[in-house]
Amino acid sequence: MTRSYEIPAGVVAVDDYERLARERLSSEAFAYYSGGAADEITIRWNREAFDRLKLRTRVLGDFSGGGTVLTLFGQSFDYPILLAPTAHHRLAAPEAEIATVIGAGGARAGMVVSTESDLTLEEIAKPARTPLWFQLYIQHDRGFTAELVRRAEAAGYGALVVTVDSPVFSPRNREQRAGYRPPKLSEHANTRGLHTDYVAEAALGESLMFRGYLDVTARWTDIAWLRSVTRLPILLKGIMAPEDAELAIGHGADGIVVSNHGGRVLDTVPASLDAMPSVVRQVAGRVPVLMDGGIRRGTDVLKALALGASAVMVGRPYLYGLAVAGPAGVAHVLHLLRCEFEVAMVLTGCRTLAEIGPEVIWPE
Ligand code: FNR
Ligand code: LAC
Repeated sequence: MTRSYEIPAGVVAVDDYERLARERLSSEAFAYYSGGAADEITIRWNREAFDRLKLRTRVLGDFSGGGTVLTLFGQSFDYPILLAPTAHHRLAAPEAEIATVIGAGGARAGMVVSTESDLTLEEIAKPARTPLWFQLYIQHDRGFTAELVRRAEAAGYGALVVTVDSPVFSPRNREQRAGYRPPKLSEHANTRGLHTDYVAEAALGESLMFRGYLDVTARWTDIAWLRSVTRLPILLKGIMAPEDAELAIGHGADGIVVSNHGGRVLDTVPASLDAMPSVVRQVAGRVPVLMDGGIRRGTDVLKALALGASAVMVGRPYLYGLAVAGPAGVAHVLHLLRCEFEVAMVLTGCRTLAEIGPEVIWPE
């Protein structure tokens, strides 16, 4: 496969990457990356929640000494946009996650590496130049899970992002229609050989869910257990309800990611932006709250921070960048979002991240 890593002329925004990625990816891969659960109503809502909010400009402010640096769990980030964990980057580029991590380094963005990456977490950590966190799926085999955590610690990952929203996936009809077939867990780079007997199909007349599988999926006691086996900060990703945010803190979580998994798990849950304020209120500053889902513009980043997020993550945008222009595309996507975000900060009168509050949203 020959490919060019040049950024095509005329690419000036994340949406341009999506349009070009649709042309470059196989229809199966594009369905996997872009799609979500059922009718993809939540995917639409994730976007609409941002578009609905209007910004309130301020003029003639003093921006000297301003900037976007932030510290999370003792680690420094140049700006509050991280790469969300996403699986299977080889669908977009032959170098898979190596290309992504190089792009993240170029843009000086933090990256969260998925348990379901196509390369091992050690291979991805080697060329990293920016903070890496490891996204953990708690496996049925808790011994194997503890070993994954130990490997992430040894490879220098700075936090664990434990994804808790998807013990099961509801059907992704777009993937099914396109004929996308995900590799088996036992064939993934990080979980090679891991035994799992879960079958996501039920014979006619059989229960799909209640056949014993759920007896071994993660639950709250596993979070307390994880807390006891690692010194890394633990974030729980996929929290939408304030009660779960409270339980997360009670079980030792150091951070929360408000997320509906990019609309990929259960359709018709609200936009993560709409779920965030009640979680932020409940958390009341005890731990950082991050969010993801639907961010396609720097103004979206500003809106998320205005509603209480400490930082945001983006998923599909950098996958599209990866598909179109490899590491350069990943870096360019992050750079575009960062530049748009900085412009939005200035025009709404915010000198630092701490100054971004609800006042930047136009009151209705
Ligand atoms: C994901 N996401 C995800 N999340 C996770 O915790 N582990 C994973 O392996 C994956 N894999 C994955 C693959 C693909 C193709 C996508 C698009 C998403 C969810 C991801 O971390 C994030 O929550 C969403 O992508 C955020 O929404 P946007 O930015 O894509 O709208
Ligand atoms: C996904 C899984 C891998 O969203 O988290 O495809």
